[in-house]
Amino acid sequence: MPDELDTGPLLALARKRGCLVAVPRITSTRHGRMRFEDLVGPLRRGAFGISEPAAGIVRPTRALDVVFMPLVGFDRQGNRIGMGRGFYDRLFAHRARMRQWRRPLLVGIAYDEQCVPALQPAAHDVRLDALVTQSSVLRFGRRPT
Ligand SMILES: Nc1ncnc2c1ncn2[C@@H]1O[C@H](COP(=O)(O)OP(=O)(O)O)[C@@H](O)[C@H]1O
Ligand SMILES: [Mg+2]
Repeated sequence: MPDELDTGPLLALARKRGCLVAVPRITSTRHGRMRFEDLVGPLRRGAFGISEPAAGIVRPTRALDVVFMPLVGFDRQGNRIGMGRGFYDRLFAHRARMRQWRRPLLVGIAYDEQCVPALQPAAHDVRLDALVTQSSVLRFGRRPT
């Protein structure tokens, strides 16, 4: 989205290094649903004008190793605010429910300027494992149970 960090260079580098790359595709704007699909073949514009692969080869969420998530704001505890529709929270709801399940690794990517004072997460908000900005890498521990 326009106000979020551009993931294009990261995708290009990952593919150059031979990584299998999957990208999100919104399947229901109404119900806030999305899934990951392999980045192969031509792209087309999907919901909210976001590019998505036309091939539609589904990559199961739990088969992903690491997910880089753009965001609107973050705090130093690993809480994240998105565009306000909860797509990532819904897709990774198992991470909030099952504390031992560590895949995929959730890495926020943002500018330092998007750091905000402590957020008050809701029960459905999924925390980040790490966050990368232009100046630093933050790692967040497990939430106390
Ligand atoms: N796992 C979930 N199950 C059901 N509703 C959810 C879930 N995650 C988020 N939502 C709903 O999606 C909406 C947007 O979530 P919110 O956390 O505010 O957005 P964002 O994370 O994009 O900033 C909220 O109304 C929230 O209740
Ligand atoms: Mg949220």
